Amino acid sequence: MVNYNLIAPYYDFLANLVFGNTLIRAQQKFLESIEPNSSILILGGGSGQILTDIDNIVKGCTINFIEISTGMMELARNRKVINNTIVFDQHLEPSTRTYDIIIMNFFLDQFTES
Ligand SMILES: C[S@@+](CC[C@H](N)C(=O)[O-])C[C@H]1O[C@@H](n2cnc3c(N)ncnc32)[C@H](O)[C@@H]1O
Repeated sequence: MVNYNLIAPYYDFLANLVFGNTLIRAQQKFLESIEPNSSILILGGGSGQILTDIDNIVKGCTINFIEISTGMMELARNRKVINNTIVFDQHLEPSTRTYDIIIMNFFLDQFTES
C-alpha cells in the first residue's frame, strides 16, 4: 500500500501535471446530482479538493471524509467549507449507518483483488 504522506503536498500538482484536469473533471462530473442535505461518505478523499467542489454546488450535507494519510488529511482539513458539515476520520469504523451517496474516486484500485 502506498503511503501518501510524503507526496501529499505535491499530489494535486503531480496529478495535474500527468493527467491535466481530466481527473478533476471526472470527479466533478456527477456532483451536480447531489441533493441538498444528503448524507455523504467519501473514502480516500486525498487532499480534499472534492470538499471544495461539493461546497460550491450544494448545501446542508453531512460529509464523512475518510483519509488514512495524515498529510492528506491536514490538507483536507484546511479546505474552506462553509455550506456543509464535514466529519473527518482516518478510518471507517464498522457501523450500521447508511449514506445517500458514497464517493471513492481513485480509491479501490489501490487494493489487491482479495
Ligand atoms: C489515489 S489517491 C486519490 C485521492 C483522491 N480521491 C483524488 O481522487 O484525488 C488515494 C487516497 O486514498 C487514501 N487511502 C489509501 N488507503 C486508504 C484506507 N485504507 N483508508 C482511507 N484512505 C486510504 C490515500 O492516502 C490517498 O490519499
